[in-house]
Amino acid sequence: MKTILVTGATSGIGKSTAELLAKQGNRIIICGRRQEVLESLKTELSTFTEIFSLKFDVRNLEEVEAAINSIPEDWKNIDILINNAGNAHGLDSLSAGKTDDWDSMIDGNVKGLLYVSKMIIPGMKERNSGHIVNISSVAARQTYANGVVYCATKKAVDVISEGMRLELTEFGIKVTNIQPGAVETDFSLIRFKGDQERAATVYAGYEPLKAEDIADSIAYCVNAPKHICISDMTIYPAAQAEPRTIYRK
Ligand SMILES: NC(=O)c1ccc[n+]([C@@H]2O[C@H](COP(=O)([O-])OP(=O)(O)OC[C@H]3O[C@@H](n4cnc5c(N)ncnc54)[C@H](OP(=O)(O)O)[C@@H]3O)[C@@H](O)[C@H]2O)c1
Repeated sequence: MKTILVTGATSGIGKSTAELLAKQGNRIIICGRRQEVLESLKTELSTFTEIFSLKFDVRNLEEVEAAINSIPEDWKNIDILINNAGNAHGLDSLSAGKTDDWDSMIDGNVKGLLYVSKMIIPGMKERNSGHIVNISSVAARQTYANGVVYCATKKAVDVISEGMRLELTEFGIKVTNIQPGAVETDFSLIRFKGDQERAATVYAGYEPLKAEDIADSIAYCVNAPKHICISDMTIYPAAQAEPRTIYRK
């Protein structure tokens, strides 16, 4: 049984991943900002395994430090860290983009991932074992107009994964970078600030990936034999050729 910390476990990819890994018998530290969602997920998953929940905003260094320092002694040896928390905010040109949206994406998708990792890596190095899974995006492979800042944050995740692998391999720590294509979650609803109709258009006319599909891929990577490190994985829905090109019926 492994101890796995999943950020962004209250929704979408993170939630499905926490569910699957819980059902596989691991104990899970579920993280997010919505306390009531964390509590109901904790109740739901506690039928399968031990669950511990942590409420914090990854953008706030003090909150990250306080939350991770509050993990009880018998949960502190985190075997697997899944850096999943993140979102896109807005779909605007650089000249029209809102700087608050840029701050949210850069602070959450990049700095937040670094803050959480910095707290967990020292223990992994001490134990000479561990696995970090970073959720990037196909947006890191192909920049698209109006999504430049989001794409830049995900490119940064790719680079951080590469750097982590360089720094951590000698300590027996694996690093996996996952690039999902279009997955139907709350992602577009958040990008379009609650506009359900606009969010639905992103997934219209083809079969997008489900959060469970990415959870399966993550589980495959973390369950690989000890001598195998899956460094990078890109997963598209069958109808998507690259971020901008989706074949719709
Ligand atoms: N859906 C896609 O098409 C797609 C494609 C490629 C990559 N991704 C990436 O996959 C990851 C998960 O996205 P998703 O599609 O599952 O979206 P989602 O359903 O909106 O889930 C996002 C999760 O991140 C958490 N989160 C967001 N900002 C946070 C913050 N500042 N502090 C703490 N937690 C935060 C949210 O929890 P709270 O609201 O409770 O804090 C939520 O659990 C993201 O990194 C996203 O960029 C998604």
